[in-house]
Formats: sequence, C-alpha cells, structure tokens
Amino acid sequence: MSHTAFATTTRGLRRDSPPMLLFEKAKRIGIWNPSDIDFTQDRIDWPLFTDEERDAVLRLTASFAAGEEAVTLDLLPLMQAINQSNMPEESVYLTSFLWEEAKHADFFDRFLTEIAHEDRDLDRFHLTCYKSLFYDALPSAMNALVTDRSPRAIVRAATTYNLVIEGIIAETGYHAYFLALDEKNLMPGTRAAITKIKQDEARHIAFGIYLLSRFISKDAALWDVVQETMNDLLTLTMGMIHEMFTQYETPPFGQDESVFQNFAMGQFTKRLERLDRARSMSLAAIDELTRTVIEEDDA
Ligand SMILES: [Fe+2]
Ligand SMILES: [Fe+2]
Repeated sequence: MSHTAFATTTRGLRRDSPPMLLFEKAKRIGIWNPSDIDFTQDRIDWPLFTDEERDAVLRLTASFAAGEEAVTLDLLPLMQAINQSNMPEESVYLTSFLWEEAKHADFFDRFLTEIAHEDRDLDRFHLTCYKSLFYDALPSAMNALVTDRSPRAIVRAATTYNLVIEGIIAETGYHAYFLALDEKNLMPGTRAAITKIKQDEARHIAFGIYLLSRFISKDAALWDVVQETMNDLLTLTMGMIHEMFTQYETPPFGQDESVFQNFAMGQFTKRLERLDRARSMSLAAIDELTRTVIEEDDA
C-alpha cells in the first residue's frame, strides 16, 4: 500500500486531539527507567514473607510478567490496522504505548531475576483460565486484524486488549499488589514501579476507551460487539481469580476472594457504562470527555 499524503506536510498533527495529549503526557511522565528502580529494601523484605506469601507474590508477578510480554507482542496488529486507517495522531501515540509495555515486561523480568532468584519454571503459575486469556483469547483477537481490519474486528481487539486485559485484569492485579504490600510497608521499590506502571496503564485505558467510543458513536451496532466480547471474557476473568485462590488453604495476606471478584466486577460495570454513554455522544463530545479524563488523571 502506497502513501498518498502525510499529515505533517498537509494538515499538521492535531495537537489538541486526545491521542496527541496522551502522547505529550507519555513523553513527560512515561519516561521512567525500570533499571533505575532501587531494590535494596525489597531484597531485605523478600525473605520476611511466609512461604505462602512469597508464593502468592511470585504467582502474581509470574502472571504480570507474562501478561506484559503478551501485550508487547500482541499490540502490533492493532497499530498496523490504525496506521492503515488514516489516524495519524493515534499512530503517533501508539509508539509510546508499545515502548511502555516493553518497559513493564522489563520491570517484572528484573524483579524475577534480582528479587525472587527463582529458576524460570514459572509457567507453573499459569492455570487454565489464565492460559485461555493470555495464551489464546488475546493473541487471537489481535492477530485477527492481520487479515480483517473491519471496525468490528478492531472493536473486538480493543475490547479484549484495553478493556478486559488492561482495564479489568491488570487493574485488579495492582489492587492485589497494593493490598499485600502497602499495609506492612514492604518492598518500596516494587511499589514505586507499580505506581509508575499504573500511570502508564491509565493512558492506555483512556486511549482504548476513546478509540472504542469513537467507533460506537459512528456505528451503534458496534456496541453489541463490545458487550459480546466483554461477556465472553468475564467468565474467564472471574475464573482466573478463583483458580488463584484455590491454590491456598488459607489465602495469603488475609486476602478475601470476594474482594477481588467485586473489584473486577466493579471495573467491568464502570467500563461498560462509559461505553454505553458513547452511543448517544457526538465525536466532539467524546473528545471533550476524554480531554477531561486525561486532565483528571494528571491530578
Ligand atoms: Fe503494561
Ligand atoms: Fe498497557
């Protein structure tokens, strides 16, 4: 496919568009270096956990490490579909998105090498529902775009990637890290990195919701694709939380499965409600709402 024109030499990039605002923000606060995270205290804290607590933190980290690697590997078909849909601002923003996912994988890999000192037989922590989500559902929704770049396929991919994997599963995972580590003030380096990762992810999720809202605003029938995809993946998401808890007689850190099921369900409802509103919104109103969300995330 040839290029017929370039944005920079015709109309210019729209600096006030949500993807360019996100790109500006990524250049400002997304430039942290996982290699600079200081693990001195984390190395001292690691042996203080009970065996079960260490197992739980390792399980969570093995889930995140592979999850971040998966989103790094699987984003490219969406970038390609956007590049070929004449959305230059979105294309520019997505370059920072991909780099950030690679840095997240870099951080969790560093944790496993420098803190956990484990052998790398960590796939054992990936159970049935986790595998269905990260080994199958995510790559198949994303790789479908290699041959099908229809709005339906893009909406299915972005719903899987941005709404479910990032907006529900990753958010629930951070919640677990903070509940486990915050109360006892343990592993400050890890918590600092996760705070940075969470900021990066807030931009990714804002982008995904913006992208999906625009598609839905242009064609209300795409709302059904969002709902179907979310519902298909909800059972696996809840199953993934449940299968983790079944591994322990007494949940480590006194954590309660229902807290996580409710948190995930709350995220699910929140994301769905936001997109439901997009059905009756104009593109200008979606831009405006997204700008507000980007500014609020700054606060
Ligand atoms: Fe990430
Ligand atoms: Fe992300």
